Amino acid sequence: MSAGGHGARDPLRALELYCGIGGCAAALGDSATPVAAVDVNRLALEVYSHNYPHPVVPALVESIAIDQLRAWDADLWWASPPCQPFTRRGLRRDLADPRAETFLALIERIAEVRPRYVALENVPGFESSQVHERLLTTLEKAGYRSVEECLLCPTELGIPNRRRRYYLVAARGRLVPRPARRTRGAPLGSYLDPEPPDGLEVDADLLESYRAAMHLARADDPAAVTHCFTSAYGRSHVRSGSYLATPAGARRFSPAEVLRLLGFPDSYRLPPDLPIANAWRLVANSLSIAAVRHILATVPEIGDSL
Ligand SMILES: C[S@@+](CC[C@H](N)C(=O)[O-])C[C@H]1O[C@@H](n2cnc3c(N)ncnc32)[C@H](O)[C@@H]1O
Repeated sequence: MSAGGHGARDPLRALELYCGIGGCAAALGDSATPVAAVDVNRLALEVYSHNYPHPVVPALVESIAIDQLRAWDADLWWASPPCQPFTRRGLRRDLADPRAETFLALIERIAEVRPRYVALENVPGFESSQVHERLLTTLEKAGYRSVEECLLCPTELGIPNRRRRYYLVAARGRLVPRPARRTRGAPLGSYLDPEPPDGLEVDADLLESYRAAMHLARADDPAAVTHCFTSAYGRSHVRSGSYLATPAGARRFSPAEVLRLLGFPDSYRLPPDLPIANAWRLVANSLSIAAVRHILATVPEIGDSL
């Protein structure tokens, strides 16, 4: 039995911090039991609860009491903290950015509670930040003897979508090697809606004005790769994700198509009354399920079960 009282062969207990719409829950599937999912965004939690029965906690991660964190008795803490302090396109204020405070609080909580495994995702650029340095120093002092870090893009796993991210898995015990990458996958055409919803078409004037800066992918191109979809997709015309070339010009990818490219299961559903602008924002903030599975396979209890 673990200190918290659950048996060694019970499924791993997972705590999802900054859970958003549940990318980690989608990646874990049946290989772990999420004990709680914390996020400050109530709309994201509505979408989460539309798909998963796990308890959601609408709160700031830094406001969760240590006793509560201990009571959840989670073996694995997954965290996708805000990335704005580290983004290469941003000011990269790092430790000085107030939005890094929640990350710093999380690092302190990890050292106090010492869950068996810690895994997290952030943007490229995080690995050279001072917050990263503090995280690694704290993990070492807290007795995490195995730490795996990598930058990984779903295109390296055969998925036609760019989303290069930093990942870390830390264990107080051992980790196992990452599995071999399957680098050949299905072409872009197989990720598309058979009947896309109305309203995705790009206005002809807009297309003419921005065409040079827009990335258009072709469904019949077996090598087509979409650019990273960002939370500005649908609001910002350029550098927020790809468009699909159509006989009439171009259209945006639907939120369901973005979810598919991220690797969410077919059973995952957005609430039917969710406005498309909100859907794009929430979905584009989520995770590459394939990449998360690839890195979580280093946790021995998860291994190749994903
Ligand atoms: C990069 S997104 C992670 C999304 C998530 N991985 C998913 O699958 O949808 C960061 C999330 O952190 C949440 N967030 C930001 N600051 C927070 C804080 N201090 N406490 C709790 N949640 C926070 C945001 O609402 C957002 O959902």
